[in-house]
Amino acid sequence: MSKITTTNLLKMKQEGQRITAITAYDATFAKLFDDEGAHVLLIGDSLGMVLQGCQDTLAVNMDEMVYHTRCVVRGTTNALVVSDMPFMSYATPEQTYQNAARLMAAGARMVKMEGGDWLCDSIRHLTRNGVPVCGHLGLTPQSVHVFGGFKVQGRDEFQAQEIYRQALELQAAGIQLLVLECVPTSLAERISKALRIPVIGIGAGPATDGQILVMHDAFGITSGYVPKFTKNFLAETGDMRAAIRLYVKQVSEGTFPGPEHCFN
Ligand code: KIV
Repeated sequence: MSKITTTNLLKMKQEGQRITAITAYDATFAKLFDDEGAHVLLIGDSLGMVLQGCQDTLAVNMDEMVYHTRCVVRGTTNALVVSDMPFMSYATPEQTYQNAARLMAAGARMVKMEGGDWLCDSIRHLTRNGVPVCGHLGLTPQSVHVFGGFKVQGRDEFQAQEIYRQALELQAAGIQLLVLECVPTSLAERISKALRIPVIGIGAGPATDGQILVMHDAFGITSGYVPKFTKNFLAETGDMRAAIRLYVKQVSEGTFPGPEHCFN
């Protein structure tokens, strides 16, 4: 595999080749995922939960995101490295730019922000200044307390229409990738078909252009509540490298996610 760029991801969508993404937080796992052919590595603010043991992602700060971005970049050869903008690090276009610049200087090649059309000015500001942006809609974990818990979004027609509209607005503002989390399969399919850019799903069914998992979920080592959309690839393989190879294979063949991982 050669170095993955936004152009490659767009071409993959156009050619119907599925994109595999996974979160990474350190150099060793980044290298393993990169070696096994993951196309996108996300330094997710999920690190607040899976590394720091918090109940949500809200306490993660910029210094932590920069640190983990540097670690992941050192282990990555080919995958596109995307870093999350943590809670309250992108309240204004200028603050967004200052913080995104820190992640890019740490080696990220794209930044991800959670939310809809209220981010369009910031997205335009970033893309004009050389920072590629990934959007994130559906269940956006930084808004967990607005949602009243980690709940599937877009189940009623009004909400579904709203998420669909926001996706188009974000694309028009300049995002080059979209993460769609915990929405019904039919909505994810509609959005993936309508957008020119690739859509990466998590709990969004098989019809998106790619899939992402939190690495701890892919290894089945998440303690407590295990979301329906995850799969323990380690259980089937007994080996971490083989587990990721199987994840990449099943995503590219379209056999993961199965019906048991999806929402209606
Ligand atoms: O923070 C994260 O890991 C994420 C993924 C779940 C998409 O945003």
